[in-house]
Amino acid sequence: MSGTNDSDAFVFFGATGDLARKQIFPALYAMVSRDALNIPIVVLARGSWTLDKIKDRARESIQAAGHFDAATFEKLASLMRSAEGDYSDPNTYASVKKALGLAARPIHYLAIPPSMFGAVVQGLVKSGCAQNARVIVEKPFGRDLESAKALDATLHEVFPEQSIFRIDHYLGKEAVQNLLYFRFANTFLEPIWNRNYIKDVQITMAEKFGVQGRGGFYEEVGAIRDVVQNHLLQVTALLAMDCPVSSDSQAMQAEKLRLFCAMRPLDPKEVVRGQFRGYRDEKGVAKDSQVETFAALRLHIDTWRWAGVPFFIRTGKSLPISATEVIVNLRKPPLAIFDSGAHMPTNYFRLRLSPEVVISTGALVKKNGENMRGEPVELIARHRTQSGKSPYERLLSDAIHGDSQSFTQDASVEAAWRVVDPILKDPLPVVEYEPGSWGPDAAKHIVQGDEAWHDPQVEQSQPC
Ligand code: BG6
Repeated sequence: MSGTNDSDAFVFFGATGDLARKQIFPALYAMVSRDALNIPIVVLARGSWTLDKIKDRARESIQAAGHFDAATFEKLASLMRSAEGDYSDPNTYASVKKALGLAARPIHYLAIPPSMFGAVVQGLVKSGCAQNARVIVEKPFGRDLESAKALDATLHEVFPEQSIFRIDHYLGKEAVQNLLYFRFANTFLEPIWNRNYIKDVQITMAEKFGVQGRGGFYEEVGAIRDVVQNHLLQVTALLAMDCPVSSDSQAMQAEKLRLFCAMRPLDPKEVVRGQFRGYRDEKGVAKDSQVETFAALRLHIDTWRWAGVPFFIRTGKSLPISATEVIVNLRKPPLAIFDSGAHMPTNYFRLRLSPEVVISTGALVKKNGENMRGEPVELIARHRTQSGKSPYERLLSDAIHGDSQSFTQDASVEAAWRVVDPILKDPLPVVEYEPGSWGPDAAKHIVQGDEAWHDPQVEQSQPC
């Protein structure tokens, strides 16, 4: 379906990159297969890439992603046009303009390093390709608060904020979108979703694999820039924000921004940075690298709803399992009349975001027998494996339709950088950890009191 607000051409800068191969071509193919994409796709690539070579690469990447139907691929290939690929050469933009033909509302997707944004944006302006256009940019948006502000200034010279679509692919995940739905479509949660009932919140994003040959990229980024400043703070915002006044994008963004502004900048004493043993042997990694592949931290949100409730956030490469999970721990009952509860977990909500999607509640029930003793059980409200549209398919499709709800906004991104900036400016040394472990021991102390990290497990429950 297309509307008058839809973009009428898709210009793809960085079509030969890793992201294009792993995510973008499969997403464009999926859109074509659903009859949801029928606009010219102008692909740009540096070096000696002919259109046929790019099509071959697109075919291989789609085949590697799974389903492949030759007729659907031919449809996608027939939409593809190519343009010169040197981003500093004015001829490049003249050839984009030519390839755009009669398109009046193009969308430019910059899957390229942020250091090139300035040159590309200027090239688009001078050639007239920026008129009535939208732009999609990838994360991480900048390296810190200062560089994010500079990038925003570069983009805003040409594009108004509503025409800028900053991707954080976590926001395109079904399970992440459901966090907001689950919270605000149900009555039973709101009365307890606050400091009166919630003791703490834990968010773990664990990855079993290392840097997968991306050592050079990782050296520039590290876990805090790669996933904490964006994916994990976005998840936190969806868990903690107040109810927006409506579901429109502006209302959502406004409420989310209020929450980001209430996040207290991290205290270095409440952060542990780790590095898995062997990282320094990876290609492209310095022998004395101080880049973190693991981070654990305690975040405070200074609002009436969350004052005194710590948010424990943890991520790492080479951990025992790949899984992203949120645990919302509730306070103990005010009076313990059964001793069974004493050593038992308190009530909790478990929201597994990937690879499975699970919503469950941890409760205590009486054990069979005469004594009033209990045992923990999990009440599974929903359990599904990930399926349907990929995050990139959703997000690219939303951007083409001009729907900015699932994209990040300038002020929120800057506020998120403000949270992590103290750690980036003055990083503590990294602590080594064993690959396959849950990170350095020091990370245990991030979680306070009688609480410990909840380590995500292989999902045992049956899909419904
Ligand atoms: C990316 C990071 O943004 O997210 C990667 O750059 C990380 O380092 C990836 O592995 C995780 O995304 P997903 O969707 O596979 O959980």
